[in-house]
Amino acid sequence: MIVDDEPGVHDITTLALKSVSFSGRPLEFIHCYSGKQACESIIKHPDVAMMMLDVVMETDHAGLDVVKFVREVANNHTVRIILRTGQPGRAPEREVITAFDINDYKDKTELTSSKLFTLVYSCLRSYRDIVAIDASKKGLSRVIDASAHIFKLSAVENFTRGVLEQLVALVSGKPDAVLIKSKTDVDGLVVSYEKEHWNLVAGTGRFTQVADLNQRANFGVFNKLLDMVMQQKRFVYQDRTYAAYFEDRQGNVNVLILDGVDSSESVDNDIIQIFMRNVSIAYENIKLQLDLEETQREIVCLLGEAVERRSMETGNHVRRVAAMSELLALASGLSEEESAILRYASPLHDLGKIAIPDSILNKPGTHTPEETLIMRTHAEIGYQMLAASNRKVLKAAAVIAHEHHERWDGKGYPQGKSGNDIHINGRITAIADVFDALANDRCYKKAWPMDKILDLFRQEKGKHFDPQLVDLLFERLDEIKVIQSQYQDKISSPI
Ligand code: C2E
Ligand code: SIN
Ligand code: SIN
Ligand code: SIN
Ligand code: FE
Ligand code: FE
Repeated sequence: MIVDDEPGVHDITTLALKSVSFSGRPLEFIHCYSGKQACESIIKHPDVAMMMLDVVMETDHAGLDVVKFVREVANNHTVRIILRTGQPGRAPEREVITAFDINDYKDKTELTSSKLFTLVYSCLRSYRDIVAIDASKKGLSRVIDASAHIFKLSAVENFTRGVLEQLVALVSGKPDAVLIKSKTDVDGLVVSYEKEHWNLVAGTGRFTQVADLNQRANFGVFNKLLDMVMQQKRFVYQDRTYAAYFEDRQGNVNVLILDGVDSSESVDNDIIQIFMRNVSIAYENIKLQLDLEETQREIVCLLGEAVERRSMETGNHVRRVAAMSELLALASGLSEEESAILRYASPLHDLGKIAIPDSILNKPGTHTPEETLIMRTHAEIGYQMLAASNRKVLKAAAVIAHEHHERWDGKGYPQGKSGNDIHINGRITAIADVFDALANDRCYKKAWPMDKILDLFRQEKGKHFDPQLVDLLFERLDEIKVIQSQYQDKISSPI
């Protein structure tokens, strides 16, 4: 951007720089003839690389006002600014130059064609580097963000996209990038290569949306390129598109496509190979981590199911209690993570029943007072079994096993805790457990009709149960009923 009130300066400058190109691209000039025009123009073109700025225009400090505007109002810290003045000796103060990140200060007469060329070149270089650092910062913050939420599936994508953004920032031409992986079978072995069978790992620019890539129409343009890469098993550069080949330790083929690269020299193959190797290791690690967590959840659920089976209930009891507990947790304002932990932990609320003899556990009728005492030990026993663990889910399960028979009014067991002294997870599971015990057949009782169940909750609100949670139960009754019918008990024989 040339900002000067003398048209002659514009002519001389463009003439001198006409044939200059940078990274294989020509220069584009934007002409402004006053400070006011320059301010408007920088808003419209925030990606201007360099501004050659006259100091004295409509006022004798118009240029300095522009600098202040660019940095402070337009908040543009990337554009490189060269101040020019026709009055030698009237340099702005040092503080102005440092405070507003002015890159150079030149006398108009000083600007011969070769000096101008050097100046422009060094400005464009530093502009390029500043933009690269900026993009890299954005990418890095995505990586950091993703590692904080590693338990979510989207973390893999965010992590890779973050690193990809950093990589793209190093390549001139600002290409759109996409990293794809050959489809594998469940064991991670490569299924024979077919060009339609690629999984997206992450993308930037127009490939940011996963959905875009999965629309084959959008991606089909790369089919020929992919064929070449797969045949040559190394990188290919063609028509401003660069594709790199990488085979990971599992034998999966990864291909990185950079679309819109200025020249093949602007891509550093070594860095790309390092990138591909690191990402594929990170990808496998995250997948392994997710797999471990999934396994943990499944084992917890199977364990809960095994307990319920022994007391001649189907595994669906724990599934319903898990789903209802999560629903109430979210409704009561617990975070998604806290609610998910409750969901995974609540199936273990009756783990202690493992220690209750069959004759008592599966007694078809009502318990004697002695049997009741033995039955009640299941809360303490379950707690003791789980308390040793340091795992988040199992720690939560220990508290739930301990407190799911406590009552809001303090008349529950085993500790006789009351009100908010009972952990929220215990109060929630109590409601889900009793609701489910009443709504379904037990060895000692038939299922109750819904009216009768709701009557009991109305009656026990503030006595057995946390009154606020009972209100939420009624608010969410439709969803509770859906859960009940989703996991209906089928007649099954006990193990
Ligand atoms: P569960 O079958 O999972 O029942 C959980 C809770 O639901 C019970 O905790 C109780 O608060 C509520 N509940 C279940 N059925 C009824 C009912 O008919 N009326 C009312 N008002 N509430 C009901 P609770 O009472 O602490 O019992 C804990 C566990 O002890 C029960 O778990 C069940 O496994 C066992 N149990 C309780 N009573 C009997 C019984 O009479 N016979 C047998 N065989 N087992 C029983
Ligand atoms: C990066 O990690 O910043 C990108 C490239 C590499 O893996 O070295
Ligand atoms: C399961 O994972 O099958 C049971 C636990 C849940 O409902 O999330
Ligand atoms: C039972 O009757 O065995 C359950 C414990 C209780 O009702 O307090
Ligand atoms: Fe219980
Ligand atoms: Fe239960």
